[in-house]
Amino acid sequence: MTESSPRLTNLPAWKKLQAHYDEISSLHMRELFANQPNRFEEFSITLDSLFLDYSKNRINPKTIQLLTELARECRVPEAINSMFKGEKINTTEDREVLHTALRSDIDKPFIIASGDDVMPEIRAELEKMKRFCDAVHSGENTGHTGKTFTSIVNIGIGGSDLGPHMVVNALKFYQKDLDIHFVSNVDDADIAETLKNLNPETTLFIVSSKTFTTWETLTNAHSARDWFLQSGANQTALSKHFVAVSSNIPAATAFGITEENIFEFWDWVGGRYSLWSAIGLSIALAVGFDRFSELLAGANSMDKHFREVPLERNIPVILALLGIWYTNFFGADTQAIIPYDQYLQYLPAYLQQADMESNGKHVTKGGEEVDYSTGPIIWGTTGTNGQHAYFQLLHQGTRLIPVDFIAPVESLNNIGIHHRLLIANFLAQTEALVRGKTRAEARATLEKSGLSEKKIEEILPHKVFPGNQPTNTLFYQKLTPHNLGTLIAMYEHKIYVQGVIWDINSFDQWGVELGKKLARVIYDELGDGIPVRTHGQSTRGLINYFKEKSPKKS
Ligand code: F6P
Repeated sequence: MTESSPRLTNLPAWKKLQAHYDEISSLHMRELFANQPNRFEEFSITLDSLFLDYSKNRINPKTIQLLTELARECRVPEAINSMFKGEKINTTEDREVLHTALRSDIDKPFIIASGDDVMPEIRAELEKMKRFCDAVHSGENTGHTGKTFTSIVNIGIGGSDLGPHMVVNALKFYQKDLDIHFVSNVDDADIAETLKNLNPETTLFIVSSKTFTTWETLTNAHSARDWFLQSGANQTALSKHFVAVSSNIPAATAFGITEENIFEFWDWVGGRYSLWSAIGLSIALAVGFDRFSELLAGANSMDKHFREVPLERNIPVILALLGIWYTNFFGADTQAIIPYDQYLQYLPAYLQQADMESNGKHVTKGGEEVDYSTGPIIWGTTGTNGQHAYFQLLHQGTRLIPVDFIAPVESLNNIGIHHRLLIANFLAQTEALVRGKTRAEARATLEKSGLSEKKIEEILPHKVFPGNQPTNTLFYQKLTPHNLGTLIAMYEHKIYVQGVIWDINSFDQWGVELGKKLARVIYDELGDGIPVRTHGQSTRGLINYFKEKSPKKS
C-alpha cells in the first residue's frame, strides 16, 4: 500500500475477515478436522525436502481464500516483484533490499531498477571469500609465527553475529577442524572467557560490522587487538590475524586492517539479512566454501518458490497470513518457534532480530500511526527442553500462542532410540495442543484409576486441556546446508509479507537509535566522581547510586 491507499482496516478483505472471524473463532479444531476430510492434504505444501503442514490452525478453506484476498488487496505480489527487481523498498533509508541477489544464480545477471547488474561485485567478493577460506584450510595462510590457524573469533553484534552464529552452530556436524567463537556482548566477560583458552599465534579474528561504528563491536575488537599485541606480536603481525567484513572500508582500514583483508558488502544488504554476504565468512571457514554455497543454493530455491508460486501454495505467504490471522484477529501477542533439532538451538534468537527488528514498527511507510498490531514477540527454545519448562502454559494457560514446530525426518547422528523418541514427542505435542482433553475424556481417565467420586470432582478441572492451540509443523529431510538455507529464507520472506500487509518498512531499525545515543551521554557521565543533576529522577538516582558504589580508583 502507499500513502494514498486505504488503511488496512478499511480494506474490503479485512472487513470480510472480521465477519469471518466472528463466524469461526469459537469453533474447535476437532470440528474443523471433522468437517474437512482432506484437510491434511489441502493444508500442506512441499518444497524440495521441506514439508509444511498447516492443517492444525483455526482456519477453514474460506479463511485462506479471504487471507489471500487481503494479500492481493495489499499488493503482496507486486511487493514481491519490487524486492526482486531491486526497487528502493527500504524507503526511510532510500535503499534497495537485495539479500536475494547474494544467493541468486551465480552465472546470471541480477539487474536492479537503476539498470545496474549487481552480480559482478557479488561474484568478485564470493571468489575472494573462497580464496581466503581455501588458503586458511590448506595452511597456506598461517599466523605470524607460521603456525596453522586453529581458532576463529567472529566479533560482531546483531546481524553481524546472530545469523552466522546460528548457522555455524546449526552446521556443526559438517565443521572442519577449526574451533569457531562468537564475541558479541560488550560485557567484558564475553571476550575474557573467549580469549582465556586461545593461543594468539593460532587465532584469526574477523571483525564483522557493516557500519564499522558499532560501539560494542569496536570495543571488543580493540580489546582483542590489545590481547594479541600483548602476546609480543607486532603491528605487522596484526595484518595476518585480523580481517574485517564491512561496508565502511575507510573505518576498517583506520582500525589497522589491510585493504586486501577487508571483505566488502553493500548498503543494500540489511544487517539482519547479511549472513548470505561476506558476513558469512565465519560460516564458510567453519564448513568450507562449497557448503556455504549449498546454503546459498537452498535459500535461492526458496526465493524462486516465493517469486513464482501462487499465494495459495506459497509457503512464506501462507505462514505470514496465518500470523496476521492470529495477531490481528485473535489478538495473539507472541509467536513461538520450537525446533526439535538441537542444531537449531539458536534459531529462535536469530529470528527474534530478523522478525522483531523488522516488524516492530508503529507507523506506516507513509508515517501514520497504525491502528492495528504489528510484529509479534518471537520466542522459543528447543524441544524437548521446552516441554519441561513452559509447555504447561501452552497446554493449560489462558493465552493463544501460535507455535511453529520444526524437525528433521532423519537424524545426523542416529544413536539408539533418540531420534524416534524426539519425533514421538514432537508429534505428540502438536496432537495434544490441537485436541486437548475434554471434561468427559478427563473424567473417563480418572474413573479408570478408581478414585472416589468426590476426589474426581475435585481434580477434574485440573485435568482438562482446552486444546485448539494453533501450530504449524515443518519437516525437512535432514539438516544440510541446503535445507537450512531454505528454512532461513522462508522466514525472511514471511517477515517481508507481513510487513507489506501492515504497510510498514521492514528494513529500517530507527528504534535502536535512542538507547545508543543516551548510552553515549551516560558513558561520559559515569567517568568522574561528581553526582549528575540531569536526567529523570529514576535514571539520575541510578547513575549516582552506581557512581557511589563503584570501587574508587586509587
Ligand atoms: O543496533 C542494531 C543494528 O544496527 C542491527 O541492525 C545490526 O545488525 C547491528 O546493529 C550491527 O550493526 P553493524 O553490523 O553495523 O555493526
